[in-house]
Amino acid sequence: MEVIVRPNPDAAANLAARIIARELRANPQLVLGLATGRTMESVYGQLVRMRREEQLDFSLCRTFNLDEYVGLPATDRHSYRHYMDRNLFHQVNIDRRNTHLPDGCAADLDAECRRYEEAIRRVNGIDLQLLGIGRDGHIGFNEPLSALHSRTREKSLSPRTLEQNAPLFDDPATIPRRALTMGVGTILESRRCLLLATGAEKAGIIAKAVEGPITAMISATALQLHPRCTVIVDADAARGLTQTEYYRWVFENEPEWQEFRD
Ligand code: F6R
Repeated sequence: MEVIVRPNPDAAANLAARIIARELRANPQLVLGLATGRTMESVYGQLVRMRREEQLDFSLCRTFNLDEYVGLPATDRHSYRHYMDRNLFHQVNIDRRNTHLPDGCAADLDAECRRYEEAIRRVNGIDLQLLGIGRDGHIGFNEPLSALHSRTREKSLSPRTLEQNAPLFDDPATIPRRALTMGVGTILESRRCLLLATGAEKAGIIAKAVEGPITAMISATALQLHPRCTVIVDADAARGLTQTEYYRWVFENEPEWQEFRD
């Protein structure tokens, strides 16, 4: 795992977008794993800008989102399909047939989860998985005690997640209590992981996820097992970390990061 601390949320999102853009230019058929949520909005904003100003090409890119609420159709503006259309897909030259989210309205949700795993397998897996982190340490909607080998499945959302996301609903009481999510095992199989967290309210959980022991109580700690995981945080989200000087040293000295050091 590598940790990169950027001075503010915009700089953190900009770095995440530049890493994605670099991978996409190197491999136009990139299989990109995507996340939703407030943190990702500025990453998608940057990618849209790169499309507009730098002709970043999404035409051959394939995408798989981490999760979707159960019971919300794509037309519902609170659904993650709607979020992705609004924030990214409708604003770049991606082929809609290449964009995938689990269908939270499928008649048979278990079969839908198996179909989703199979669809990921058919494209030979995810090249780059973008991740946020929930206040309870979830990645995707892998709530506390999700098995570290778990696959795409239906999950109950934890009270903390409901509290975190309910304000995003017109009527907070209507937030779905369940979701389909890639499993921790599914996420760990992607060839590269990029986790982005910003803001002081993420400081405590980031410290546990990065520097704490691996535990199913905090799904994000499983990323410590991943051979190629980059965690990007802003200064506020980095406040609980004890080794920031070391992380800075790595960022300043690793040749891989040279082009990203402003
Ligand atoms: C959503 C997802 C979640 C969010 C996390 C952080 O697709 O996978 O894990 O990334 O809940 O959400 P925000 O950015 O709203 O704090």
